[in-house]
Amino acid sequence: MRPAQLLGLLASLTIVHLAPARLRAQGLECDRCHAELELLRQRTGSMARAEELLTPEAVLRGSAHGKLACTACHDGITQSPHALPVVTRRCASCHPAADSVWGGSVHAQVRDRASVGCPACHGVHDVASRQQLRTPAGRERGNARCTACHAGQQLPATDPHAGRALCAGCHGSHDIRGPELIGSAMHPLRQLATCGACHDSVAAVWRGDVHADTLRKLLAAGVLDEDPDALPGCTACHGAHGAPRGAAMARASVGRCAACHERFAEIYYESYHGQAVRLGSQAAATCADCHGAHGIRPSAEPPARTARARRVATCGACHPEAGARFVAYAAHPEPMNRERNPWVFFTFWAMNALLVGAMGLWALHTGIWWIRLVLDQRKARADQPRNAPN
Ligand code: HEC
Ligand code: HEC
Ligand code: HEC
Ligand code: HEC
Ligand code: HEC
Ligand code: HEC
Ligand code: HEC
Ligand code: HEC
Ligand code: HEC
Ligand code: HEC
Ligand code: HEC
Repeated sequence: MRPAQLLGLLASLTIVHLAPARLRAQGLECDRCHAELELLRQRTGSMARAEELLTPEAVLRGSAHGKLACTACHDGITQSPHALPVVTRRCASCHPAADSVWGGSVHAQVRDRASVGCPACHGVHDVASRQQLRTPAGRERGNARCTACHAGQQLPATDPHAGRALCAGCHGSHDIRGPELIGSAMHPLRQLATCGACHDSVAAVWRGDVHADTLRKLLAAGVLDEDPDALPGCTACHGAHGAPRGAAMARASVGRCAACHERFAEIYYESYHGQAVRLGSQAAATCADCHGAHGIRPSAEPPARTARARRVATCGACHPEAGARFVAYAAHPEPMNRERNPWVFFTFWAMNALLVGAMGLWALHTGIWWIRLVLDQRKARADQPRNAPN
């Protein structure tokens, strides 16, 4: 704990313990007036104003500040009736750490335009504790504060996180930034930590994935300014809001794998599986059915699901009859690539040689035939008698 934090906490605790007794002695209980709507209306002459002023102590007791006296924050009040205006402490005076982190967020930068100060997310007298935010009702209330301003960013009902996670679980709370910035919890280079905090078993497998290697290398080299859309973090496959779930995910991800692996995707779409998937098959193999979803490795490495030794098992999940010969079928046949597909390569060239050879012979034959025809015609004309009788 830093000195400023300690000081803030000490100050608040002192007030907590001293205030209620002193206030009661001085007849300053706020409920006497601030829990009485009619009295407030009479005193202010306005129902609307009375409603604003209505602050029963019970609301505070049910909040994160349940142990604070009213005068812990309204510390300008020392007598009854109190003077106006009432001096009130800023949230930051007791929570300096939260305030300094928030100071670097996108919300602090727009505070004048949109006033995204502490109460915009926390409320004033009904501030929820972190524990309260993690109940179904607390999540709903907390997220409603975000969507009050971000109406277009509601999680659709189909999103697996709708009603089950806080917006802040993904975006962070006081350190929210545009997702393209490395400081954002949703930057691809930070997703293993952010998404992994709730999906720890997936994260454990994904740490050994070829895509995680790529991100780790960038982090180690301090390369933080790559285009986030080109980085294979969790959302590269899962998307953002409205991500598909369950069995639909593997099928939905084909387009996403394809966006980064254009060459292999192009060949896949020419293969039997690719064409069937394109026609809407729910059974034919997607990229993830063969390569796996998490823990993908290059096929040259033995642990890869597509490694030669594991292919019978991988294909066998759908082709129970699969044996060594069956799995020799090239999933991404590249006729022009001799190293990857020697058999297809040689067959391709042999077939083409045959074709070109046959066509060539035919052309040669036709050409010679034609020349002969012309010569024959000429000869016939020459042989005709020059001075035919008239
Ligand atoms: C005797 C009745 C009474 C008591 C007791 C009382 N208040 Fe008030 N308070 C009022 C009235 C009436 C107003 C509205 C004044 C106005 O706007 O004209 C008010 C206004 C306020 C305001 C808004 C002031 C502003 O500047 O807009 C605050 C904050 C406040 N009270 C806090 C408290 C707290 C905290 C306590 C207990 C320590 C308390 N009051 C006790 C009657 C009372
Ligand atoms: C954690 C700090 C905190 C505590 C504890 C607290 N308040 Fe407040 N209160 C505030 C803040 C912040 C405001 C908003 C001040 C502003 O808008 O300038 C406020 C505003 C008010 C207002 C004015 C509302 C308005 O719209 O003008 C009243 C009345 C009030 N508080 C009464 C109380 C009473 C009564 C209690 C105890 C039951 C209490 N407060 C406890 C922080 C607190
Ligand atoms: C954009 C919304 C937002 C704003 C603005 C905001 N907070 Fe928070 N704050 C949250 C959320 C959400 C949590 C809960 C995070 C969690 O539990 O994972 C939180 C947690 C807290 C906590 C408890 C945990 C911690 O980090 O210490 C404190 C204290 C706090 N906020 C104070 C403040 C203060 C003071 C301000 C203004 C300087 C502020 N907040 C501004 C959203 C916000
Ligand atoms: C007088 C000092 C004081 C002021 C002013 C104050 N708080 Fe607090 N706050 C506390 C104390 C003390 C706690 C309880 C800490 C605990 O239980 O660990 C607390 C707890 C919280 C928590 C819950 C933390 C958790 O871990 O669950 C949040 C959120 C919070 N405050 C936000 C605010 C906001 C927003 C404001 C301004 C409207 C504010 N606070 C004003 C002293 C204050
Ligand atoms: C499962 C994680 C997750 C949850 C939960 C989540 N988001 Fe997002 N959010 C994302 C991702 C990923 C993006 C896209 C980042 C990008 O644009 O590259 C995003 C984008 C955003 C953006 C920026 C949009 C833009 O076009 O720049 C806002 C604002 C936003 N979310 C608000 C919310 C709100 C409000 C909630 C709660 C109702 C929420 N998010 C819940 C992951 C999440
Ligand atoms: C009082 C209104 C308000 C509240 C409440 C609020 N925001 Fe914002 N938020 C904004 C504004 C304004 C911006 C800046 C948008 C811009 O620059 O276009 C912003 C920016 C963002 C961004 C960055 C968007 C981008 O593309 O750069 C994210 C993410 C975000 N907010 C998420 C949240 C989350 C999560 C919460 C709740 C914990 C929340 N906001 C609460 C008003 C709000
Ligand atoms: C290369 C693409 C890809 C990446 C990167 C990826 N996933 Fe997945 N994920 C998938 C696919 C495809 C499925 C569906 C698997 C199935 O149903 O066969 C899936 C399923 C899931 C599931 C639900 C099923 C389960 O295994 O629990 C969760 C949760 C999940 N992913 C979280 C994550 C997280 C967290 C990350 C980042 C650490 C991540 N994913 C990275 C492609 C990916
Ligand atoms: C705050 C915790 C939290 C965070 C952070 C989080 N998730 Fe989730 N996620 C959940 C919960 C809760 C569910 C619903 C689980 C269920 O339905 O059993 C879920 C479900 C999912 C599912 C669907 C699982 C299925 O069974 O099909 C996927 C995929 C997923 N999350 C991916 C992600 C990704 C990607 C990220 C990061 C961008 C992320 N999650 C961040 C809590 C979280
Ligand atoms: C955001 C871009 C992106 C997405 C989406 C993506 N990848 Fe990758 N993938 C990469 C990068 C970058 C590498 C590492 C560099 C390389 O070797 O090509 C990689 C490597 C691989 C490798 C190993 C390649 C090799 O030559 O060693 C395989 C296999 C692979 N990805 C399969 C998939 C599958 C299957 C999916 C979809 C479920 C997918 N990828 C989604 C970017 C992506
Ligand atoms: C039927 C199973 C199957 C499907 C479906 C499939 N692949 Fe492959 N993939 C393989 C096999 C086996 C290899 C290795 C042998 C080869 O190169 O043909 C491979 C090789 C690769 C490679 C080269 C790196 C390596 O591991 O050797 C990439 C990248 C790749 N696939 C991406 C994809 C993408 C993207 C899709 C979907 C658009 C996809 N694959 C669909 C089985 C499949
Ligand atoms: C997710 C299930 C699945 C996986 C995994 C899978 N396939 Fe298939 N495959 C199918 C389906 C479904 C068909 C279409 C069968 C039909 O004609 O009804 C098919 C068709 C084929 C065909 C053409 C038709 C035939 O039966 O001869 C070949 C060849 C083939 N797969 C090879 C492979 C190889 C090799 C692998 C492993 C690298 C593999 N498949 C992995 C589901 C799968």
